Amino acid sequence: MKKLVKIETTKFRKHVAGLDASESEKDKNMPTLHWVGKNKVVNHHHEVPFRLLDKKYSFAGNEGTPANSTNNKIIHGDNLEALKSLLPEFEGKVNCIYIDPPYNTGNEGWVYNDNVNDPKIKKWLGQVVGKEGEDLSRHDKWLCMMYPRLKMLHRLLADDGVIFVSIDDNEVANLRLLMDEIFGRGNFIAEMIWEGAFKNTASQIGVNHEYVILYAQNKSKIAKEWNIAKDAAEPVLKEVARLKKKHGEDYETASEELAGWFRANKANECFAHRRFRYIDKRGAYKEDDPTAPGGRKFELINPKNGNVIPLRANRGWAFDQATFNQMVDEGRVSFVTETTIMIRRYFHETDTATPQSVFYQPTRSASERLASIIGAGKFEYPKDETIVQKFFEMVAGPNSVILDSFAGSGTTAHAVLNLNAQDGGNRRFILCEMMDYADTLTAERVRRVINGYGEAKKSVAGLGGGFEFYTVGTALFREDKNLNEEVGAEAIRGYVAYTENIPTEQRWDTENAVSQYALGSTDSALCVFYYEKDRVTTLDIDFLGTLNIKNLPSRPEQFVIYADKCALDRDFLYKHGITFKRIPRDITRF
Ligand SMILES: C[S@@+](CC[C@H](N)C(=O)[O-])C[C@H]1O[C@@H](n2cnc3c(N)ncnc32)[C@H](O)[C@@H]1O
Repeated sequence: MKKLVKIETTKFRKHVAGLDASESEKDKNMPTLHWVGKNKVVNHHHEVPFRLLDKKYSFAGNEGTPANSTNNKIIHGDNLEALKSLLPEFEGKVNCIYIDPPYNTGNEGWVYNDNVNDPKIKKWLGQVVGKEGEDLSRHDKWLCMMYPRLKMLHRLLADDGVIFVSIDDNEVANLRLLMDEIFGRGNFIAEMIWEGAFKNTASQIGVNHEYVILYAQNKSKIAKEWNIAKDAAEPVLKEVARLKKKHGEDYETASEELAGWFRANKANECFAHRRFRYIDKRGAYKEDDPTAPGGRKFELINPKNGNVIPLRANRGWAFDQATFNQMVDEGRVSFVTETTIMIRRYFHETDTATPQSVFYQPTRSASERLASIIGAGKFEYPKDETIVQKFFEMVAGPNSVILDSFAGSGTTAHAVLNLNAQDGGNRRFILCEMMDYADTLTAERVRRVINGYGEAKKSVAGLGGGFEFYTVGTALFREDKNLNEEVGAEAIRGYVAYTENIPTEQRWDTENAVSQYALGSTDSALCVFYYEKDRVTTLDIDFLGTLNIKNLPSRPEQFVIYADKCALDRDFLYKHGITFKRIPRDITRF
């Protein structure tokens, strides 16, 4: 490998203003959205000061509560700064994001401000967009608020991760364009409908749905098929049995009535099964295409008449001839036309259902449940945790990290703990909430859900688990761009290790075999941070002699060494593959 010589005045900040690499790969011809103030926010995420998370307390479920994930975080603070502080540990590591940002409905009377006019956001807009910010329209403001936050979420999302964003008609069109720009149009997965969010403001058409927009970080990396556990099988099976009894072998009438029952029965779980709307002697079934790209290519013979059943281009059969013959004998094949066949898949033989794009919410029950946990009138319009849980079930495996940076009443944490309790998973949640109720409401709900709540007959058992509560603390750099040394050596080491791209699992603490100053190693370099709070440090031969490189499996090709001064000349640095970086601090005081 080529040796690099660099003598740098270190800025630490590795993310300089400019385009992210991923952007250059995106479709350049895609239409993009423009609004007043955009030029001020497109690169703002790079300029957000890096702050440390300040741990206020840890909470663990009472003795006797079941095991559940404990390594969770609730952060009180503006999510822009909170998300930035998460980068060193979580960049590219978050498996699933669910956010429910203010919809920008114009309502300012809620416990949180839905009009981007919250004093904290107004102040932020003033600082970032400047004077111009005062004249922005409601939509400009919302877009200015969302853009840098989505950029930060994009950086946190894992390569195979998925983001869900709740939204309504006020901003859905803008949000889609924003998401196209940040996540890439090719990573769009679905615009789902969340039905049951009744609004009483209708004049022409009563709007009773919202949207959930779904994007992948990289669509080619996500699972090919998503499934959710088949809930509420019981009512469907009961209805099928009733119809079979009523109509005997008149399967056509029974099927028609079953389809009608699904339409009338909009409880989400039943509705998700509605593709199983036909009945035959075995039970309810759906019809599936028996071909797939990459399937087997051969001349499939219809055993009833000896004709070859044509195969569409680029597809293959999902079975061999013998299996097909058996399925025909068993009546599991529907001959839709002379040349088209479908395979019957029976409801009682499947454990999972394919998620559908419409989710049905029983009216008001989420608010009622929240009231039973934390009291009535504390938070308007919480999301239904049973539906949010389904989103996680679709995409978030048992060890996933799930992030919600507009946490509100803590629905996401509730959904995560519930899902873990149901399937034994160890999913972790990270919540950010800006308002002062982050502890008294957001965290309080989570505490009650962990320990159980309600009395007598209405009591609900705890789900177990725990979390740590943080505020967004001190900035790592002072206004003069020098280090804020008050944050302590450990925090500074962590940040430098992150900016040097040392993977979390390759970062070392001070008690390592090489040196108390070594930070860890990347694939190509050993990184050393020679820092003493009360003393000027110098990179010289003596210091190099203290590095126990022989304790490493092989000699590193490159060294990145931070210190206050360097006493070695360029040739020496070049010869030994050393990059010196000056620690940004004022050493004239020593
Ligand atoms: C629509 S509510 C979310 C409701 C939540 N899904 C639930 O079910 O309870 C939006 C939340 O985001 C919070 N919020 C808005 N802007 C924020 C910001 N910049 N940083 C952190 N939280 C913010 C609001 O205070 C509010 O609690």
